[in-house]
Amino acid sequence: MADLNSKCKAWSAFLAVSALTIDMSVAWADDATHQDKRLDLGLTAAERNEFLSEMRQMLASVQGIVAGISTEDRQKIAKSARYSGNRMARATPVSVRRKLPPSFRDIGGDTHMMFEEIAVRAEADDMDMLAALTGRLMQQCLTCHAMFRAN
Ligand code: HEC
Repeated sequence: MADLNSKCKAWSAFLAVSALTIDMSVAWADDATHQDKRLDLGLTAAERNEFLSEMRQMLASVQGIVAGISTEDRQKIAKSARYSGNRMARATPVSVRRKLPPSFRDIGGDTHMMFEEIAVRAEADDMDMLAALTGRLMQQCLTCHAMFRAN
């Protein structure tokens, strides 16, 4: 009986691994065969450079916020967040702004406002609240990245 039991366990482990492998190969096939459906923003090479460098700055801001939360360093959180807040929104070149569709501008505007909100809330909010807000902020990154591309 014990023997049968362990055979059963071995089988279910095998099936679980096979299912996982099949799942993964389907995902890879999807990537290889399906077209990129994200909307191309149609930026020039110079505009794209500027645009992507702002994106990398936003990633650096998120890094600073998370690191600040981990050490409860309120100043670091606020400073990192403020860098990608309204200041960055205003700095977007007019030529780029004109090309961005309204749906992009809506998500982008909200994202910069959320950075500002984190900067303000860093003064007094509990760290777990700031972490939750950062999680919501990063949902914005995911939403936009799923919809648009820059080349
Ligand atoms: C309103 C739209 C939008 C939002 C919001 C957004 N991004 Fe992006 N991001 C883009 C697009 C479009 C690209 C180019 C993607 C591509 O061409 O594959 C990009 C690219 C990037 C890159 C790659 C930069 C490079 O040098 O190639 C990073 C890093 C990045 N984003 C970070 C972030 C982070 C972090 C956030 C959230 C805090 C964020 N982005 C929010 C639209 C957005």
